[in-house]
Amino acid sequence: MANIRLVKNIKTLFQADQGERTVVKGANMKILPQLTNAFILIKDNLIEDWGSMNACPEIAEFEGETIDATDKMILPAWCDSHSHIVFARGREGEFVDRIKGLGYEEIAENGGGILNSARKLQACSEDDLFESAKARLEEVISFGTGALEIKSGYGLTVEAEIKMLRVIKRLKAISPIPIKANFLGAHAIPLKYKENRSAYIDLLVDEMLPQIAEEELADYIDVFCDRGFYTVEETDRILKAGALYDLPAKIHANELDYSGGVQVGVANNAISVDHLECVGEEEIKCLLASETMPTILPSTAFFLNLEYAPARKMIDAGLPVALASDYNPGSTPSGKIPFVLSLACIKMKMLPEEAINAVTINGAKAMQMEDRLGSIAKGKLANFIITKKISSLAFIPYSFGSDLIDQVIIGGKKWNGSIAE
Ligand code: NIG
Ligand code: FE
Repeated sequence: MANIRLVKNIKTLFQADQGERTVVKGANMKILPQLTNAFILIKDNLIEDWGSMNACPEIAEFEGETIDATDKMILPAWCDSHSHIVFARGREGEFVDRIKGLGYEEIAENGGGILNSARKLQACSEDDLFESAKARLEEVISFGTGALEIKSGYGLTVEAEIKMLRVIKRLKAISPIPIKANFLGAHAIPLKYKENRSAYIDLLVDEMLPQIAEEELADYIDVFCDRGFYTVEETDRILKAGALYDLPAKIHANELDYSGGVQVGVANNAISVDHLECVGEEEIKCLLASETMPTILPSTAFFLNLEYAPARKMIDAGLPVALASDYNPGSTPSGKIPFVLSLACIKMKMLPEEAINAVTINGAKAMQMEDRLGSIAKGKLANFIITKKISSLAFIPYSFGSDLIDQVIIGGKKWNGSIAE
């Protein structure tokens, strides 16, 4: 028998549509569909219907649960298209070093940073990695995340990159939310290859990629194309090698410099280029002529004290923008999307409606999940957030740090905080 649930008396239902919006750009980003006094009908794990309470189906018709959302609002669950939640340990020691004056790049040049995480991960068992990543997955679902992309990139050897990707595959198998896996073997150059960078890239192309393809461990390929990490030429070679295995690109670009990352990403038809703290007219022009989703990670700029990405300029130029967490041990030890929303509004002057679009429908698009998630539409997954009693949408980014989520509904069911295996 079908499992039916009815959510009724919703004060305001946001982002409900007919499934026709797959991406929102430019001036349309401030348009967030909303319906007051609404219902959502759920059948099994999908949205069966939604509408005004005037048209709400009779409760008596159902043998199912009814959730009363009087005074509460509903939004689609967040689609977080950029994270690194598989890691062995936090890096709070480097955090304190930075407080004392060391720079992020300086730490990395001296074998800290990503290489520090790689040493720890190489020494960690697959099972321990899986357990800690599972706990982080549970944490972000409780923050309202209903779809997640997860990267490798803290392995940096054939064995350890494969170990990370196997952990992600295991997470996919137990996760109540959809997960996409991204192969980021080109996250840093291991110390041993410092003087022979191309030998590491050979390893990545000739050994890692075939095994990843064989075990179907990745959906995407990523490169950290930036000053001190991978050059444009190296990035191009790696992305082209990934394309041979049908791995579209989602890359790290222009975080530390005007690195050419946006251009090489777009030239390789990247699904998204992410970070974008260093973006000017040229990058905007290049993105405007593409289908690539510009994805901004403001928690990283916050944590590393970087300039924020010019989101306002990008949207005003007509671009779409997605927002994501970048949850990782080095530059963003947080997967809390409501805080990302606050930063987007406070630091980048995005309107609350723009920020919500960026982390729902555009976030889904940045993971090629826009047909399944990102809005409240018939046939989409019933992954959504029921807020506490709040006065308006703007109250969410305004009250930064507060927990305004009453319930997270995942696959039509109330999320209880832990994954049942
Ligand atoms: O997205 N920028 C590159 N990679 C990660 C952080 C890596 C780290 O410091 O561990 C990021 O910010
Ligand atoms: Fe990242």
